[in-house]
Amino acid sequence: MYTKSLIAATLAGLASAAPLVARQETIDTVGIIAIHSTSPIHLSGVSENGLKFWIRKDTATYCPVVVEQCPTGNTTQLVLSASSETVSLNTVVPGGQQAYIASDGSLSATQAHSGNIGTGTRTPFKYTPQAGPGRVGIVQFNNTGFTACPSAEDADVYQVFALGYSGYVAGEACINISLGTAIVESTPVWQYI
Ligand SMILES: *[C@@H]1O[C@H](CO)[C@@H](O)[C@H](O)[C@H]1NC(C)=O
Ligand SMILES: *[C@@H]1O[C@H](CO)[C@@H](O)[C@H](O)[C@H]1NC(C)=O
Ligand SMILES: *[C@@H]1O[C@H](CO)[C@@H](O)[C@H](O)[C@H]1NC(C)=O
Repeated sequence: MYTKSLIAATLAGLASAAPLVARQETIDTVGIIAIHSTSPIHLSGVSENGLKFWIRKDTATYCPVVVEQCPTGNTTQLVLSASSETVSLNTVVPGGQQAYIASDGSLSATQAHSGNIGTGTRTPFKYTPQAGPGRVGIVQFNNTGFTACPSAEDADVYQVFALGYSGYVAGEACINISLGTAIVESTPVWQYI
């Protein structure tokens, strides 16, 4: 109940930007994994860090000292609905945080207290919920999957980019992936950083 009402509050905060939440609609809170069998990153978790999304980095969260009790969630969680083309992160910070594709094609998160996405775009994401327990759902952007590219600092760390973003061209070393989702029962985080 705690989680659900916080999610409702988070979505309500976004209502002016995205009036897409219909009554009775299923809203899932999910963790995300990379799917590409035969690749070294198959079933790796995808984590937010520095407002970007990575394989083999820890999730980066923040609890301001002025907040007396932050929720205990500390993993990367998205809030998804099959009837919405936007994606939120499971946060409690006023105004929430949304996923978007930045102008370099990178899967990104808006900074708390700012909806700024530069010349990137918040839509169209598409969520196909998991068909049942033990199955995975899928998130796509512009009806297309994603790719994971070795980062400049550490070739074992991969960053996630949207293949469907107009003008984005993946480098040779990138590994095409589907972004799989699994429903999680977790408290939200205060905010991602
Ligand atoms: C995340 O929270 C869980 C449960 O409170 C805790 O056991 C774990 O150590 C935390 N992980 C990090 C990276 O803070
Ligand atoms: C989605 O893909 C189409 C081509 O298939 C492209 O014309 C359009 O610009 C893309 N949308 C975004 C937001 O990148
Ligand atoms: C990755 O996906 C892109 C876009 O769909 C495609 O052009 C490319 O050939 C794929 N790469 C591999 C190695 O399959």
